[in-house]
Amino acid sequence: MTISKSIDILFSDLEHQFSIKKKNLDPIVKGFINELNTGLITPSTKIATMIPSFVTKLPTGNETGTFLSLDMGGTNLRISAVELKGQGQVQVLELKRVASKELKTGEGSVFFDWIADAMEELVHKKAKHLFDTDQLQGIEPLALGICWSFPVHQTSVNRGTILRMGKGFTLKNTEGRDLSDMLHEAFDRKGLNVKVSAILNDAVGTLVAHAYVNPRSRIGFIFATGVNASYPEKISAMKAKLEPEYYQNQDADTEMILNTEIDIFGSETYLPLTSYDLALDAAHNQPKFQLYEKMLSGAYLGELTRLIALKFIESGGLFEGVTPEGFEEPYSFPTMYMSALENDTSVNKEESFKILSNYQTVQPPTYSDIVILTRICRIVSTRSAALACASIAAMIEQQGLDKNEDGSDIVIGINGSTYEFYPYMSDRIYNSLLEWFGPDVSDRIKLEIAKDGGSIGGALIAMLCSI
Ligand code: GLC
Repeated sequence: MTISKSIDILFSDLEHQFSIKKKNLDPIVKGFINELNTGLITPSTKIATMIPSFVTKLPTGNETGTFLSLDMGGTNLRISAVELKGQGQVQVLELKRVASKELKTGEGSVFFDWIADAMEELVHKKAKHLFDTDQLQGIEPLALGICWSFPVHQTSVNRGTILRMGKGFTLKNTEGRDLSDMLHEAFDRKGLNVKVSAILNDAVGTLVAHAYVNPRSRIGFIFATGVNASYPEKISAMKAKLEPEYYQNQDADTEMILNTEIDIFGSETYLPLTSYDLALDAAHNQPKFQLYEKMLSGAYLGELTRLIALKFIESGGLFEGVTPEGFEEPYSFPTMYMSALENDTSVNKEESFKILSNYQTVQPPTYSDIVILTRICRIVSTRSAALACASIAAMIEQQGLDKNEDGSDIVIGINGSTYEFYPYMSDRIYNSLLEWFGPDVSDRIKLEIAKDGGSIGGALIAMLCSI
């Protein structure tokens, strides 16, 4: 068989495995809705999904004041002083740190001390002018909202037990401990009077932050290193998850934002896992965990592409059959490179050649290598968009928003690098939504970027909870 023939066969097989049309979406959306409803009637102690946030208020856009927020995402720690100026306007002073592998896999207290160091720098240096003397001297506490982009078993708005973290974090002596306690201990060691007034997941923060801008928001969606979604649910539907003393004091119609942890949803029974997904999972330090997330989030798209490319190299059709030096390393092809390749519409493919120059090759890469690799990226990212659509569709149907006949917009606050910076991602999600819902409903769906969901959402909830 000629090389070009074997490449054709590889592509047609790949396209077949990765294509998600309406009929393939069906079991996924149904499976997700099923898990949403099972999760609602399962006590939170027995399940790591469908976590109550204890956030029952959304901002009006008119609130004012300065509040602290701490946003711990996949790799970045962002500590901010957020000035709410009213009329949906905010100003953020932010300090950013990157967590090293040693920090992510080391002792928990060392990690929390690292956070306290950054907090000290923000409060006493960068944002000093925003606080009064009593606050700076620690006489008056500063209110902090924590946006924690990992599963937490929340027991109240400002308390929550740290669960298994994911995203490469394996902190020692943290699982089962209260997140606020661990932070307060670290702040005490530094002599900082910062009080955690709210803990929230980034998906919850995104919904709250976007509600400050557009009060019609009904879903918070994260599409970044990880994926997740949140939505408001009637407290009466989630009694199994709350203490009777809590819900007895609430109006039956009150809604609370739920952190679905949809990243953990799904199983081999209904997710269309390919041999590449299974290989990625088997080599992961947390196998069988977050199978869905591993199929679509920014942490994994590059690795899936690399695994597929290795197959093409093996066939002789890519890089003349020789693996470029460095490319054999797991996770050596980041999702960012996929974005760059897909973004490069130039004739000479200058940017793409630049990306490939990160690897040593015996023969210089050819134009055809770039075309093949870019096509693999497109296949992997198009599936990712369809899988994101599955989450969004499930959340819309769960709330019956598709059945509202008033023709109103279905507003989704969406945040994350994979959505914001991956070329054509938004169009591809809309294509899948159109395929799933048809034009009448899909035209009403508005995916709106919720900027700084973590930091602004954190500060807003700190504010809502301290009044
Ligand atoms: C991971 C975390 C989840 C977070 C999401 C997006 O899936 O488990 O808590 O919301 O990433 O950052």
